[in-house]
Amino acid sequence: MKIYFRISTLVLLVLFLSEGFAQSNSEFTPGAIWNDNNGVHINAHGGGVMLFKGRYYWFGEHKIEGEKGNTAQVGVHCYSSKDLYNWKDEGIALKVSDDLSSDIAKGSIIERPKVVYNKRTKKFVMWFHLELLGEEYKAARSGVAVADQIGGPYKFLKSYRPNPGLLPFYDQYTSADERLNCQAPATEVDGFFCRDISGGQMARDMTVFVDDDGKAYHLFASEENYTLHLAELSPDYLSHTGKFIRIHAGRQTEAPALFKRGGFYYMVGSGCTGWAPNAARWFKASSIWGPWTFMGNPCEGKGSNLTFGGQSTHVLPVAGKKDAFIFMADKWNPKNAIDGRYLWLPMVFENDQLKIRWKDSWDLSTFQ
Ligand code: DGJ
Repeated sequence: MKIYFRISTLVLLVLFLSEGFAQSNSEFTPGAIWNDNNGVHINAHGGGVMLFKGRYYWFGEHKIEGEKGNTAQVGVHCYSSKDLYNWKDEGIALKVSDDLSSDIAKGSIIERPKVVYNKRTKKFVMWFHLELLGEEYKAARSGVAVADQIGGPYKFLKSYRPNPGLLPFYDQYTSADERLNCQAPATEVDGFFCRDISGGQMARDMTVFVDDDGKAYHLFASEENYTLHLAELSPDYLSHTGKFIRIHAGRQTEAPALFKRGGFYYMVGSGCTGWAPNAARWFKASSIWGPWTFMGNPCEGKGSNLTFGGQSTHVLPVAGKKDAFIFMADKWNPKNAIDGRYLWLPMVFENDQLKIRWKDSWDLSTFQ
């Protein structure tokens, strides 16, 4: 026992020293300062985590101090980890540009970056919500960047509003009166959609999801944040194919995260109250093209009506464990953006209901 303890302590020590960790973590403490290998609070807000060759990579918004930190002054930060508790700083994966005419000029807004790997092209593709310098949240564009190495450097390719000139995809069960009529929009929100057909649909809070068949989808808050759009990406993941649907039209869902479990698609999102927290919401579908059923608030217990102070950003499947998904949320601090905190909580599936409950601290042994 004693020998076993000493050997395992030694192995951990060697691991942490080899990765340069000052101190090691063996649990998650939602809302607390979370230091990287250099003893610096992780700076990857609104982020996503992907697994590549047995290592996790966390990409997120690099924020600076103060309110200025709500704009992109540096770029997208990348960290990596073997165990999800301890993260090594891999540097800035996508840098903002000093050329003020660039779409990703320093001072623009770059939010919710998500990276996926394209097995066909062997490229890493980063999508993000982009707002142009000095235009606040008017542009509502999607930006895309690409890299040969997971940690970057990512090369910015383009930004635009998706799916100009197009109507949503309807299946054979959609009746004529359920379809958009842009001659006479039925609601104000339908009117936002119709207004934007010519220039492309607005795209703000977003995520990217790769299905088992390798197809990728972009899910984003559109129509002045009133309606989610789920849009298919091209085989190289670098553009939209033009096939898309509207989800939960007119009900203001932000902060979408998508995952798949047992053949079903799940989505978690939030309401729309700026940086302030609100109640989370979840949806379920048996086909990515819907129908997506609204399932209510997955959070339970004290603080559940405000997502425990956070807002969803990603759902992370834990490698090697069945039914193990981590709910990743941001606890924003808009007055001092760099001090935003991370709320990672385990997802629980009970009789096919999704539950998220607060924990002061927890570890992966929570999952069976
Ligand atoms: C809520 C969004 O989820 C964030 O990503 C950010 O865009 C803020 N709104 C800005 O107020």
